[in-house]
Amino acid sequence: MNTRVKSIACAATAVVLAACGGSSANKETKSPMTKQNWGRSADGQIDLYTLKNAKGMEARIMNYGAIVVSLTAPDRSGKYEDVLLGFDSVDGYLKTHPYFGAVVGRYGNRIAKGKFTLNGVEYTLATNNGPNALHGGLKGFDKQLWTAKDVSQGAVPSLELTYVSKDKEEGYPGTLTAKVVYTLTDDNELKIDYTATTDKDTVVNLTNHSYFHLGGPSAQGDITNHEITINSSRFTPVDATLIPTGELRQVTETPFDFREPTRIGARIGESHEQLTFGRGFDHNFVLNGEQGVLSPAVRVTEPKSGRIMEVLTTEPGVQFYTGNFLDGTLAGKGSKVYKQRFGFCLETQHFPDSPNKPQFPSTVLKPDGTYRSTTVYRFSAQ
Ligand code: GLA
Repeated sequence: MNTRVKSIACAATAVVLAACGGSSANKETKSPMTKQNWGRSADGQIDLYTLKNAKGMEARIMNYGAIVVSLTAPDRSGKYEDVLLGFDSVDGYLKTHPYFGAVVGRYGNRIAKGKFTLNGVEYTLATNNGPNALHGGLKGFDKQLWTAKDVSQGAVPSLELTYVSKDKEEGYPGTLTAKVVYTLTDDNELKIDYTATTDKDTVVNLTNHSYFHLGGPSAQGDITNHEITINSSRFTPVDATLIPTGELRQVTETPFDFREPTRIGARIGESHEQLTFGRGFDHNFVLNGEQGVLSPAVRVTEPKSGRIMEVLTTEPGVQFYTGNFLDGTLAGKGSKVYKQRFGFCLETQHFPDSPNKPQFPSTVLKPDGTYRSTTVYRFSAQ
């Protein structure tokens, strides 16, 4: 047992010094992370990890789906509360739900008609969203059991989750080894580092599908009062099945102009073909930051609590999704019924349907390359 694993086991069972074989030395290596058994999936034991930073911010993450189960953030009085939608126990996550907190892959978002051609070979994926493939297929990365490793650095908790997706799994070519490292920094950031390697040419687009309501668990109503700023001058308009047309359209004089702080609800009800197709915002915004360089992408504020969330990413795009398909049929944390727009997602990503759009930044990964992507969700209050 290495020291890190040992410290996790010790923390989890609250067996202190004696069983963990140390006094001061053990104290130094004690992980800022604890682990508990949270249930079972068909593939094995589900463990829930609790990461805590020096300020008292807490993230709970499980190895099933690499799901962020909860994440606390301070309001203007310094009160830390959970800002994520989800469930109180593992059962909700094992049933059908709209990707709460999950890592989606191998390809996040849609691939038209579930088909793409790579090196002259056509690949067929399951069509699980009307005529299209969505979020990696029938059993995507959100439903897989990942292998966890505590990679904390001193007092900064860091959890590495690895999943090996076999050649042809869900129709994708090549065995892909995907790693997601969640770190909770002392600047109240949840940092997500994704890497992946493959043994054959493939496509990859990983993201996290957390739903936020910055008002916290007791907040009433939907997220339309949040104010959002998106560092984006163009978006990718879609057809009626939410596949990009290929156009990069200027946001100027459209409801998609979030370059200045704007209430999410300010223009969501306008009559605009794109808002009809999405039932609200469910669109990829082309970020102005340089791809591959961690740059400010989005800032969201919630007026009542004063909470602020900033999103930084190395990705060229972000899917701004206003929970339009939440329909009141799911009861989540504290039995709260999640109705339309009770949460929003900011899924940093390459553009939807890139494997069929040669004009979009490429999502092809080759055996001699490494997929790298970083996104930071940073919390503060005003
Ligand atoms: C993404 C999609 C949405 C919806 C959600 C999950 O954000 O773009 O259309 O499918 O996932 O419900």
